[in-house]
Amino acid sequence: MSSYIIEGGRRLEGEVEVSGSKNASLPILAATILNKGNTKLYNVPNIHDTKITQEILKYLGCKIKKNNGKIEINSKKIIKREIPEQLMRQMRSTVILAGAILGRFKEVTFSYPGGCDIGTRPIDLHLAAFKKLGVNISEDSGFITCKCDKIIGTNIDLDFPSVGATENIILASVYADGITKISNAAMEPEIVDLAKFLNKMGAKIEGAGTNIIKITGVEKLKDVSYSIMPDRIEAGTLLCAVAITGGKVKLNKVILEQTGCEIKIENKCVCLKAPKKIKAVDIKTMPYPGFPTDMQSVFASILTIAKGNSVIVENIFENRYKYVSELKRMGAKITVEGRIAVIKGCKKLSGATVESTDLRGGAALVVAGLVAKGTTTVNKIGYILRGYEGLDKKLNKLGAKITIKEEKE
Ligand code: UD1
Repeated sequence: MSSYIIEGGRRLEGEVEVSGSKNASLPILAATILNKGNTKLYNVPNIHDTKITQEILKYLGCKIKKNNGKIEINSKKIIKREIPEQLMRQMRSTVILAGAILGRFKEVTFSYPGGCDIGTRPIDLHLAAFKKLGVNISEDSGFITCKCDKIIGTNIDLDFPSVGATENIILASVYADGITKISNAAMEPEIVDLAKFLNKMGAKIEGAGTNIIKITGVEKLKDVSYSIMPDRIEAGTLLCAVAITGGKVKLNKVILEQTGCEIKIENKCVCLKAPKKIKAVDIKTMPYPGFPTDMQSVFASILTIAKGNSVIVENIFENRYKYVSELKRMGAKITVEGRIAVIKGCKKLSGATVESTDLRGGAALVVAGLVAKGTTTVNKIGYILRGYEGLDKKLNKLGAKITIKEEKE
């Protein structure tokens, strides 16, 4: 995997555009399977995870054409009913494709998904929900086969508001017989985007964005074009990157705010002006509308140079502090005990050679590198490229100095 070489200590300033949301693109790409025709998608970020999803769509039989930021997917002739193991292992959200294939063909085979090692990430809630929808599930040598004659609408009360499970139930229920009601559903904006997309296609989904979602089964869908919502985690990462350098930025295309930064939101833009010194804050990650777990590591980076001590409680994934040992190499003062991290704000960070441990952990190291004295080399940036479209280019546009060192495989 390649590396980012970051010359720290440059104040970032300027204007930059936020890309389309990764976490909305993935379920929406999966949802195109449900339409037995053509779908045009705009604003899909050009990142590893969307490419893998498109590879799986092609494997299934979809025809994909790309031009000028538009992706056209024809899913009329889907011939396969299984997701290849080697692609399934590359990321966790491949599991969402299962709900879409099941919803259309009442049959799907897949293996346990892969993805960043940020916790055990089981799929028990997904499978239990499929069972409640009348699906028979069998497991053989690590492969899971789901089959039924029809999906039968029912009430599903989730034990935890899982984003992926909520999306999978929606996808599997679009063509169901009757009404599916999800209680304790995840309320993330990306779920709202998925429902908006599906409704435009002719599905009948109500309540997305609240904790109760009702899906009334329909018989057919229609061709649509749709533009994916902006990526709020990328927006948050760019804001943190500027804030840590004491800079100023205008982010275009945002839907989005306590560290002493001045933030103005106007007409789909966010302007941030960092204070001379970041203030310490305590955060705890929670399902939406709480603080997003995906921003935890990047936010921890800016707290390393804050005035005072901050406490982070990670409530979503149990293994999301792997980046901490890397930040410590740069001089950060952090102690971790289970789900709690205590950050003692220090005067400065120093450049070091560090290693990405996962997607958002890698981004946290880049943000730290921007303020560190000297050069920081972030190795294994393949993790970062899974979810950020041109992060180095966007930061360089704001005045950072990041180069890529290609590593021969
Ligand atoms: C999605 C996001 C990810 C984000 C996460 C939480 C995508 C593509 N990914 O991941 O970026 O960090 O939401 O906001 O949208 N759980 C179970 N059993 C299950 C499913 C989940 O126990 O069957 C647990 C998980 O282990 C975890 C928690 O529920 O502790 C949250 O997981 P979930 O909301 O499902 O996250 P993902 O959909 O994987």
